[in-house]
Amino acid sequence: MSFNLEQITRENIKKLTPYSSARDEFSGEAKVFLDANENSLGSPLTKWYNRYPDPHQRAIKEKLGRIKGIAPEHIFLGNGSDECIDLLFRSFCEPGKDNVVICPPTYGMYEVSANINDIAIRKAPLLEDFQLNLVHLETLVDANTKLIWLCSPNNPTGNALNRADIEMVLNNFNGIVVIDEAYINFSKQKTFIQELVDYPNLVVLQTLSKAWGLAGLRLGMAFASAGIIGILDKVKPPYNINQATQELVLKALEEVGQVNDMIRILVDMREAMAEVFRSMPTVEKVYPSDANFLLVKIKEARNIYEFLLTKGIVLRDRSNVTLCEDCLRVTIGTEKENTLLVEAMHEWYAR
Ligand SMILES: Cc1ncc(COP(=O)(O)O)c(C=O)c1O
Repeated sequence: MSFNLEQITRENIKKLTPYSSARDEFSGEAKVFLDANENSLGSPLTKWYNRYPDPHQRAIKEKLGRIKGIAPEHIFLGNGSDECIDLLFRSFCEPGKDNVVICPPTYGMYEVSANINDIAIRKAPLLEDFQLNLVHLETLVDANTKLIWLCSPNNPTGNALNRADIEMVLNNFNGIVVIDEAYINFSKQKTFIQELVDYPNLVVLQTLSKAWGLAGLRLGMAFASAGIIGILDKVKPPYNINQATQELVLKALEEVGQVNDMIRILVDMREAMAEVFRSMPTVEKVYPSDANFLLVKIKEARNIYEFLLTKGIVLRDRSNVTLCEDCLRVTIGTEKENTLLVEAMHEWYAR
């Protein structure tokens, strides 16, 4: 493997002079800030948000770095991991020329983001057991393949990919391997963040939207070499993480213990719900899950989905997705929500 960041970065991005914000040009102590055309009178709220936030999110990166065991220069923060996904396409893939590989069934935004950026998608579908098809994957890679997208634990299948398979891809691909670890906190697998020292071509994505319970604040993270992070920083909008999010995230990051408690509860309920589904007469399979949801193969999946809607319960219908035929994806809810779902399922059987 010979990874060369210079070679993989788009020409226009290499040449780009990034926007220099008022907050970039002056960040010291001062009394009077008349440099950013903010409203000096305040905000129509009790707490003021009239000043632009720190474009480098230094405080969050510092705290996050301690939690994750990595230095701040290896952290990029996005407006959700969806922004990180888009920025990876925009930084490394030449529209109309380059391609990327995805392994469906997987998270839908890789393909949507590729399409928005006019990047060709090549698909190496997962095997029956939802693991990587390395033989097929290898045949898809050519000189214009810039990114390989791996999602582990995978959405919507719920399983973690075999570590040795991921390492095989990392060791043999000259482009960037993105491992999306949105659900890693629910998994027995350990994160690849600590592997960054060995793989200059690795980007690990995580998010505060799942285990941390902060989907509404929109904070996604990319962990990578300082070189890759520098490029994402160049391309991002200057104030992509707003002030309210920065403040609330800083507070939330104090509560690792509370988050770990929630993870334990959700994982226990996931296993309990898996047992409940397995005992249902028309369930053909409950796939093992390393995430906060279950993929359930069940007869008449679409009809059940619609029946549950009439009861005010929304699942994710994946029955039209290749390899997920007749499958519903069920997020683990609160105890009460899970009970309501199980009761509604009993009603379905009692019709
Ligand atoms: C695998 C995966 N990656 C990323 C995301 C998006 O995360 P964020 O809320 O940080 O944009 C999701 C959301 O469902 C997901 O399932």
